[in-house]
Amino acid sequence: MILSFASSKGGVGKSTTCAAIAAKLAQDGKSVLVLDLDQNQTVARWAKKAALPGLEIMALAPDAFTRVFRDKAAGFDHVLIDLAGTREATLLKAMARSDLVIIPAQASEPDLREALVIIDDIRDVVEAGAAGLQYRLLLTKLFPLPTRVTLFAHREIARHDMASFRTSLVERAQYREMFLTGKAPTIAEPKGKAAREIEALVTEIEAIVGPVSATTGRAA
Ligand SMILES: Nc1ncnc2c1ncn2[C@@H]1O[C@H](COP(=O)(O)OP(=O)(O)O)[C@@H](O)[C@H]1O
Ligand SMILES: [Mg+2]
Repeated sequence: MILSFASSKGGVGKSTTCAAIAAKLAQDGKSVLVLDLDQNQTVARWAKKAALPGLEIMALAPDAFTRVFRDKAAGFDHVLIDLAGTREATLLKAMARSDLVIIPAQASEPDLREALVIIDDIRDVVEAGAAGLQYRLLLTKLFPLPTRVTLFAHREIARHDMASFRTSLVERAQYREMFLTGKAPTIAEPKGKAAREIEALVTEIEAIVGPVSATTGRAA
């Protein structure tokens, strides 16, 4: 499957979620290519430390995306595209080639507004021909206990009819530690709470995307 991690904002958890999911898929024995389109190369630096069998990472300049995708994507079970936190052409190109766009957002008014902008772009890409493209909003960095902002986020999600994951990612030290140690939650502490969140998320993703054609990478 082909997953893009998109938002027009930085710091919402795109790279964290992308790396944690990539590690889990590789752990499950799949071949995973991560295309890192963020100048900060957060995921590329993490992947060097992680050194996971089955995981390949390429840090790309935006103008190399189409060529690299064409040459490499079909050779992997899964391709994960970590996008920069800006709204530019590569975002649209990546989304147009994806099965699922994951839009991380914190439970805050600015993040949810930005998510709506991306959802509008996705509608455009679908209208332009990427009929199978789906998206899900992912709440990240949540306070462990429900607060007024969490309630607000759920109300906004319902009011705007945004498709969202049942799983949310809570603010946890393990998501930060993975960039220090290279160890993703499912590797550092397989029975820990962060690992369980990532597993639940991957289960949801696989149910949404469904069986994937090995040759095209597109959902069958
Ligand atoms: N669920 C989480 N719990 C704790 N820290 C998180 C979580 N998700 C992201 N972070 C931290 O927030 C910061 C921004 O996350 P990052 O994944 O780099 O965002 P983006 O790629 O959207 O810019 C990083 O310092 C990261 O470690
Ligand atoms: Mg990032």
